[in-house]
Amino acid sequence: MKAIHIHANGGPEVLEWTDVDLPAPRPTEVRVRHTAIGLNFSDINVRSGGFYVTGALTFPITLGNEAAGVIESVGADVTDWRVGERVAYAGTGGLFFENTGAYVQQRNLPADCLVRLPNDISDRQVAAMLLKGLTASVIVHRCYRPSPGDAVLIHAAASGVGSLLAQWCHALGATVIGTVGSAAKAEFARARGCDHTILYRQDDFVAETRRLAPDGVAAVFDGVGKDTFVRSFDVVRPFGALVNYGNASGPVPAFPLVLLAQKGCLVLHRPGFGWHANTSSTRQSACDELFELVRRGQMKVEIFAAFPLQDAAEAHRAVEAGRTTGSVVLIP
Ligand SMILES: NC(=O)c1ccc[n+]([C@@H]2O[C@H](COP(=O)([O-])OP(=O)(O)OC[C@H]3O[C@@H](n4cnc5c(N)ncnc54)[C@H](OP(=O)(O)O)[C@@H]3O)[C@@H](O)[C@H]2O)c1
Repeated sequence: MKAIHIHANGGPEVLEWTDVDLPAPRPTEVRVRHTAIGLNFSDINVRSGGFYVTGALTFPITLGNEAAGVIESVGADVTDWRVGERVAYAGTGGLFFENTGAYVQQRNLPADCLVRLPNDISDRQVAAMLLKGLTASVIVHRCYRPSPGDAVLIHAAASGVGSLLAQWCHALGATVIGTVGSAAKAEFARARGCDHTILYRQDDFVAETRRLAPDGVAAVFDGVGKDTFVRSFDVVRPFGALVNYGNASGPVPAFPLVLLAQKGCLVLHRPGFGWHANTSSTRQSACDELFELVRRGQMKVEIFAAFPLQDAAEAHRAVEAGRTTGSVVLIP
């Protein structure tokens, strides 16, 4: 079968379309034929190397943390999954940068990382929403759940995670302010949960947010990191929450802890989706909640583009340049 490997860290050119052998699944594993693979910004971080990866890497590495597909065969000890079932996964246990391997046509997976898929959600939708939706889920359930009337600020609100989170906050009754990188993204974000948008590359998002929410916002949800996080202290109301969940612009610089007290006794979170819903039953419930939001029309899953898996380099270039809105999927 075919896979995308990297033999070194670097730009998109290190992604290689290659032949690999797949052994039979181990007793507790299931073999899944992928039908749609989710591309996540973390794939770019693992590809380029750097701040996430702590130990020595063993190449070749297969990127990717999530996919949807169909069960092809099951290991001898697997009793609760059947050949032919539609399934998906977002992470396979452990830290996301250590447990990659989704950029392949078929894969053996621990049976307990799988979730069952409903008939009314397509494989592409699932690949576009599972990991990103579980990230929105850890934020809403574990960090800060907006109450009706709360104002919240979401950075990069047209992004994969940002657009799901904005719609969820809107469904909960919050007033959603979203920062975006272009007028086209502003239009996209306003159609997906944002009441107000700020062009943060041309306008000062602190002044604009203060104008829209003079008492400060209840929470900031930030996947941009370096360019936005520390300045976001100035838009949160006293005892409000600052949530950094990602670093699309680079890691958040160090800041003194006392800043939290100086800016209004703020609460700080740095979630990772893998710690949330990390048993079979809690994972299935968290995913079922996402599917229900989609079913009710409260969460539209936008697929910006579906690239053939062998063109993963092209997909990486688009995401890395910030050209995409919503999600990108790879089709094996
Ligand atoms: N904690 C977790 O468990 C978790 C899970 C999933 C994702 N994440 C992280 O969350 C972040 C967002 O993920 P996503 O899936 O929403 O990403 P995405 O759809 O690729 O969107 C990233 C957006 O960030 C903005 N951005 C700002 N500075 C950028 C820069 N220097 N380079 C590229 N983009 C930049 C761009 O939007 P504008 O043009 O609007 O500025 C871009 O479209 C990533 O850092 C990702 O690793 C974390």
